[in-house]
Amino acid sequence: MQIAHRIDELRSQVRTWRQAGERIALVPTMGNLHQGHLALVDSARELAPRCVASIFVNPLQFGPQEDLQNYPSTLEQDCAQLIEHKTDLLFVPNVSEIYPRPLEHMTQIEVPGLSRILCGTARPGHFAGVATVVAKLFNMVQPDVAVFGEKDWQQLMVIRRMTADLNLPIDIVGVPTVRETDGLAMSSRNGYLSAAERHIAPNLHATLKSAAQRLLAGERNFLAIETDALQTLSTTGFKPDYFHIRRAEDLAEPQHSDQQLIVIAAAWLGRARLIDNYPVTVGDT
Ligand code: PAF
Repeated sequence: MQIAHRIDELRSQVRTWRQAGERIALVPTMGNLHQGHLALVDSARELAPRCVASIFVNPLQFGPQEDLQNYPSTLEQDCAQLIEHKTDLLFVPNVSEIYPRPLEHMTQIEVPGLSRILCGTARPGHFAGVATVVAKLFNMVQPDVAVFGEKDWQQLMVIRRMTADLNLPIDIVGVPTVRETDGLAMSSRNGYLSAAERHIAPNLHATLKSAAQRLLAGERNFLAIETDALQTLSTTGFKPDYFHIRRAEDLAEPQHSDQQLIVIAAAWLGRARLIDNYPVTVGDT
């Protein structure tokens, strides 16, 4: 696996592959890789003969009170795992390579609407930070396809919208969430959980699932389902940020006739803010 720290190194390798007519898949990450990331790499390898992964803890998507300084970094282990999963090139830039000027002077990309709801309410500026860094990575790598986890469903929707609005010729592929055996969605932030919190954490998935089961059983009183779920989460020890049933494709409030829904939630457990979701296809009522 080649490692590039600079944009010109990255571009020179990518140019060689392009000239040889090879398709390129990109997997953007912030490192501290787990099985969820490796599933993205495996999908990328099925989608294109060349796979580029990036590791960049993007300061633009962290709020001033968030965990930027403590975000886990495990570069040596990450490299070993990426080699094992046959990544061709790892791009690991430093902050000044991506943002050569102070962050507040850099051009940013805002996806209106979608960026301001759900996680965007609690994390103002977060999705502009994500959209901006992903658009920059897309311009640097110019991949044919880019792969993201469905665990970050709202992020995936923001990236799809940004790619479509900017007419970027890149297929955006979502990969289903990889879970621990007890249902907890894999996430770098699970490492913040104490042993007692880790025991409670799978209740987030269980609560999403039981809401989805009520929808599948034909119930359409969305507010009642959401209210019960918030109550369950609070009782089990979470501090929920939100728990909503939304239309899957654009996260709008659903009509009773909508069939592709997503149950989506964010909740604090100790110092970890966990997010998860449960896509559900319901029949006609
Ligand atoms: O999902 C992540 O790890 C990040 O938000 C991403 C997409 C790599 C952008 O920094």
